[in-house]
Amino acid sequence: MSDFLIAPSILSADFARLGEEVDNVIASGCDVVHFDVMDNHYVPNLTIGPLVCDALRKHGVTADIDVHLMVEPVDRIIPDFAKAGASYITFHPEASGHIDRSLSLIRDSGCKSGLVFNPATPLDYLKYVMDKVDVVLLMSVNPGFGGQSFIPATLEKLREARKIIDDSGYDIRLEIDGGVKVDNIAEIARAGADMFVSGSGIFGGANDADPNTYDTIVQQMRDELAKV
Ligand code: DX5
Ligand code: ZN
Repeated sequence: MSDFLIAPSILSADFARLGEEVDNVIASGCDVVHFDVMDNHYVPNLTIGPLVCDALRKHGVTADIDVHLMVEPVDRIIPDFAKAGASYITFHPEASGHIDRSLSLIRDSGCKSGLVFNPATPLDYLKYVMDKVDVVLLMSVNPGFGGQSFIPATLEKLREARKIIDDSGYDIRLEIDGGVKVDNIAEIARAGADMFVSGSGIFGGANDADPNTYDTIVQQMRDELAKV
């Protein structure tokens, strides 16, 4: 069992059948449910909140749920997501007036905490809070929409983030989000990522014979990761 985590972004799932879609991607071998929260303020789109996270738990989803907050401000909504069954909660440092406090609030609520870096955001925000983060998420697209292309400069940024994490000695995941597909996942892993969000790459790759299974696409990703 590799230490690579595959996290399908439900932004590209069929929302009318969300519970079933999540069951299907997990049955196909995915590890973590990536849950994109957008507020039509921090990003120009509007998606889902704690009620939907809670509904997935009540439906019977036991996999980790990775809540990616693209909202501003962040603190008010953190305890609600913790109560709704979030496993990880990550946020964009630009969206919090008090980054250290928000990270502590996430951990105090019983979740794993993380910072998300937009393509042009420097990694400097990490420097004094390394002991308070469980995951560093690099955006390889500008946040707000699924189906965009991977921004190549993120590979260099991944290498920098990998070095910062390794030098720190802390046990921190390095997650990548945006434009991750079968044909670039190995290169992204080689640059240092160990947790891979993929929305259109997975939900757009349903098996032709059975549109409810994602086995083939997930296996292709695993095969690529095995080469790293
Ligand atoms: C974008 C979201 C992503 C998105 C990724 O703002 O954070 O999680 O769903 O979608 P793909 O994999 O299609 O780029
Ligand atoms: Zn995301």
